[in-house]
Amino acid sequence: MNDKRDGFGSKLGAIAAAAGSAVGLGNIYRFPCLAGENGGGAFLLIYVLIVLCLGIPIMMAEFYIGRRGGKNPVGSIKALAPKSHWNLIGYTGILAAFVVLAFYSTVSGWTLEYIYKAITNYFADKDIAAIEQGFTEFHNNPFRPYMWQVIFMGMTAFIIFKGIKDGVEKYTKILMPALFVILIILCVKSLTMDGASEGLKFLFKPDFSKVNGTMFLAALGQAFFSLSLGMGALITYGSYISKKDNLATTSLSVVVADTMVAILAGIIIFPAAFSFGIQPEAGVGLAFNTLPMIFDKMVGGYFFCIIFFILLAIAALTSTISLLEVIVTFLTEEHGMKRNTATWFGTLVSLFFGIFCTLSLRQDSVFVFGDMTFFDFMDKFSANILLPIGALLIVIFVAWKMKKESFYDEITNQNTLKIAVKGFVFFIIKYVAPFVIIAIFINQLING
Ligand code: TRP
Repeated sequence: MNDKRDGFGSKLGAIAAAAGSAVGLGNIYRFPCLAGENGGGAFLLIYVLIVLCLGIPIMMAEFYIGRRGGKNPVGSIKALAPKSHWNLIGYTGILAAFVVLAFYSTVSGWTLEYIYKAITNYFADKDIAAIEQGFTEFHNNPFRPYMWQVIFMGMTAFIIFKGIKDGVEKYTKILMPALFVILIILCVKSLTMDGASEGLKFLFKPDFSKVNGTMFLAALGQAFFSLSLGMGALITYGSYISKKDNLATTSLSVVVADTMVAILAGIIIFPAAFSFGIQPEAGVGLAFNTLPMIFDKMVGGYFFCIIFFILLAIAALTSTISLLEVIVTFLTEEHGMKRNTATWFGTLVSLFFGIFCTLSLRQDSVFVFGDMTFFDFMDKFSANILLPIGALLIVIFVAWKMKKESFYDEITNQNTLKIAVKGFVFFIIKYVAPFVIIAIFINQLING
C-alpha cells in the first residue's frame, strides 16, 4: 500500500539527524538552568550516570522498534505486536510530541528575538536589571513573542515539507558541525575570562549535600528530554535508518555528542557567570538574561552574542524538526493524510497550544495555576512525567513483550555484526532501566 518509503541516505546522515534531534535548547538552555538550580557538580554526575547507563540502551531500544517495525511509533509497535494494545505507547508519544512542541516553540521563538536584539546592538551597555526588564517586556508584548513563535514553526514546517533525505538530512548535516565549531570558539572565550575556575569548580566538583529526590527526577527527566527519548522521536528516526547501519555505534555517537554539547554549554555559561558575579540559580535568566550581558562586556562580544543566539536557534530547529516529524509520519501512515496536509495540521495544532504557553508568561496571565504557568506545566509534564513513562513502557515492551532473539537479530543486523555488549544491553533494558525509573518516581512521590 505504501510507495517506497523515504530514508536517510548515509550513516553519517542518520547520526547527524538523530544528534540534531537530541542537541537543542535542552542542552544549551535547559541543562545549565537545571544544573545551576540543583547545585552544579552533583547534578552533573547523576545526569551523566543516567545518560550513560540508561540513555544508550534505551536509545537502542527505540531504534530497534523503529527500524524493525519500519514505521511511526504507533505503526511500528503494531507491526511488532499485532492485535495488542502495546501501540498505546505510540499514542503517548504523539501526545508528548504536541506537549513538548508547544512550550519548545515558545523558547525557540525567543532565540529569534535575541538574534534580532543582538544584531541591532540592543544589549550594548545595559546592566542586568535593564536586560531582565527587557525580557519581561518582551513576554508582555502583545505581538512579538507570538510572531517569532509562528515564524519559527513556519521554518520547521518548511523543512518538514521537503521530506527526509532532501529536508531533514540535508539541513542537519550542515547545521550540526557548524554548531559544534561555534561552541568550541565560545568555550575557549569563556575559559580565558577572570574567575573562570570558580565556574568550573561549581560544574565539576560535586557537593553531595545538595542531593535529593527532586534532583534525581530532574536529572532523569532532563536525560530523556535531552536525548529525545521516551516519545518515539527516535523510533521514527530509527525507521529511516538503513538496515546496514550499526544501531549500537549510532546510539553511542549520538549520546556522546549530546552529552558533550551539554557539558560544553556548562563550560561556556558557568565560568562566564561566575566571572561576572551572576548567580548560577538564575533559572530561565541564566541563558537569556545573563549571557547577553556577559557578551556585552567581552572583547568582540557583539559578534559572539550574535553567533551564540544563531547557534541556539539552529539547535532548536533541528529538534523541532524531529518533534514535528513524529506527528507527520504518524498522520501520513496511520491516517492516510498527505505529507503536506499532515505538516499543516501538526504545525497548527502545536502552535495553538504553543500560543497558550507563551500567553501564560505574561504578567497577570490567566493561564497560571497556583504558581505554575501553563508553560512550566507543559515543561514539567513532558520531561518529568510523559517521557519517563514513555521510556518505561518502551523498555518493558522491548524486554518483556518482544523476544530477546528479535532484539539481538536487529541489533546485529541479522548476525552480520558482532555486538559484544548485546547481552549486557538487554539486561539493562530488562532489569535495570525499569527498576531505576520506577524507583526515582516512588522516591519523588514519598519525598516530594
Ligand atoms: N532533545 C531536544 C533538546 O534537548 C528536544 C527534543 C527533540 C525532544 N525531540 C524530542 C525531547 C523528543 C523529547 C522527545 O532540546
